[in-house]
Amino acid sequence: MLLLLLFAGAFVSQTAARYTANWTSLDARPLPSWYDEAKLGIFIHWGVFSVPGFDSEWFWWHWQGQQPPDQKCVNYMSKNYPPGFSYPEFAPQFHAQFFNPGEWADIFKASGAKYVVLTAKHHEGFTNWGSPNSWNWNSVDTGPHRDLVGDLGEAVRNRSLHYGLYNSLYEWFHPLYLTDKKNGFKTQTFVMHKLLPELYNMVVRYRPEVIWSDGDWEAPDTYWNSTQFLAWLYNDSPVKDTVVTNDRWGAGCACKHGGYYNCEDKYTPGQLPKHKWEKCTSVDTFSWGYRRNMKMNELMNLATIIEDLVRTVALGGNYLLNVGPTPDGMIPPVFEERLRGVGTWLEINGEAIYASNPWRVQTENTTVPIWYTSKGTTVYAIVTAKPSTPTVQLLEPKTSASTKVTLLGNSKPLPWSPVYPKAGLIVLLPELPYTPAMDGLHFLPPRPSSCPPALLSTMLFCGRDADFPRLPPTLPSLSRAGLGGPSSRLSAELLCLALTPTPGPPP
Ligand SMILES: *[C@@H]1O[C@H](CO)[C@@H](O)[C@H](O)[C@H]1NC(C)=O
Ligand SMILES: *[C@@H]1O[C@H](CO)[C@@H](O)[C@H](O)[C@H]1NC(C)=O
Ligand SMILES: *[C@@H]1O[C@H](CO)[C@@H](O)[C@H](O)[C@H]1NC(C)=O
Ligand SMILES: *[C@@H]1O[C@H](CO)[C@@H](O)[C@H](O)[C@H]1NC(C)=O
Repeated sequence: MLLLLLFAGAFVSQTAARYTANWTSLDARPLPSWYDEAKLGIFIHWGVFSVPGFDSEWFWWHWQGQQPPDQKCVNYMSKNYPPGFSYPEFAPQFHAQFFNPGEWADIFKASGAKYVVLTAKHHEGFTNWGSPNSWNWNSVDTGPHRDLVGDLGEAVRNRSLHYGLYNSLYEWFHPLYLTDKKNGFKTQTFVMHKLLPELYNMVVRYRPEVIWSDGDWEAPDTYWNSTQFLAWLYNDSPVKDTVVTNDRWGAGCACKHGGYYNCEDKYTPGQLPKHKWEKCTSVDTFSWGYRRNMKMNELMNLATIIEDLVRTVALGGNYLLNVGPTPDGMIPPVFEERLRGVGTWLEINGEAIYASNPWRVQTENTTVPIWYTSKGTTVYAIVTAKPSTPTVQLLEPKTSASTKVTLLGNSKPLPWSPVYPKAGLIVLLPELPYTPAMDGLHFLPPRPSSCPPALLSTMLFCGRDADFPRLPPTLPSLSRAGLGGPSSRLSAELLCLALTPTPGPPP
């Protein structure tokens, strides 16, 4: 009886736990677990800016906002459009006539991503849904005449992916915003009459599980009413149990308040951060939105993307990889190819990524760069460059007689040998496939001229002979016999070794 009462008491106080509209309270909310397990998401920048498809999604600002304007954008407009042509006149050309949400969702699913984040509204203020607060400046009243946010959400959820929405707090040219700004943000006319009604409406209508907030930096969170909104989101909204948010809720919030941290765009910490974070980055290194004049050497190649993903996950982050669709509603095939390539790698190596945890050590770079992740008693060592010897040495793991080493995608355990004293282990690798896939598409440091010719077509990294360890006396007894050939789907650059179990302290 006493036990039962205690239990009931605990239950009541649990469900009654509510968040207060201050950062101490909101920051203490545990992040819903699906997010950390997901690791990979796809980011989509799509809007009226996709129509000019020039410069970047910041085109309007660069052309007519900032002082002085970007001469490249000014010249582009004066050369190609009649005098007086205004930015809103691009909207009717946002046709999205080939937009097939099912096809998009299939590509995202094939990439191995577990969540998708679409720009519901970027800084231009155009909503990709029929917002009643964005009259005539939304995708239902003009352009595609379609609920893009709703249609993509349905297809994405149908593939069991989580659906998130990007929302810009500020709007470059909204008259109410400009008035508040002129008043030093002492008035909140824009927030009360535009931003908040629209944001609450968006959450109730589309139930996003990520709210990727942006455009916060010109004003404090008290101007945006961010803590009041988040308290509602976490206490009373239809997504209160599953929603995650980022950290862009007002000047000074980034890397400090909110849900997970984005810090700045493409943020890459040097060591393991204390707080859950996400790296957002874009296949097109110059833009998040579609650019009609993008060139191959301005895009991240597949090996670079996978290495970036691996580094991010080893450092405890999620990776949000952006593609910019065309105004016709197509994902450029080169982006599709990148996404499917990531998925192919994850089919074999996803075990080391999804729901993994950072390990005791995140990286070592003794012979080749290695990134570590872990899950339970298994440690994953992800090798991001093809070793130039048939072996790879790991200094950090502590082995025991029962340690088993396998290469993901290859069923046979690999022979290994401890290196004394306390210097980890040496693993004998099976023959690795030749992978010419990256040839020619480089976003990589230049190769040293001393690089062995056999490696030239595949290498992310190439070391001098002297960088590699002398083999300890036990190694000649390690034999490749019986190891079998690796699957042809294995990537020679990005191997993943699973070491299980390892004694030693938990992470
Ligand atoms: C924030 O809210 C909590 C819970 O209501 C309260 O205990 C705390 O004093 C508040 N902190 C600040 C700084 O207002
Ligand atoms: C996806 O759609 C199909 C066809 O409408 C339906 O049968 C299926 O249950 C849906 N799957 C999910 C996960 O919603
Ligand atoms: C905005 O915040 C103020 C307190 O700063 C509060 O009185 C008001 O109710 C909030 N409005 C909304 C719509 O959240
Ligand atoms: C590993 O070390 C090499 C040689 O010092 C260096 O060029 C490379 O950038 C390092 N890689 C990583 C991932 O730290």
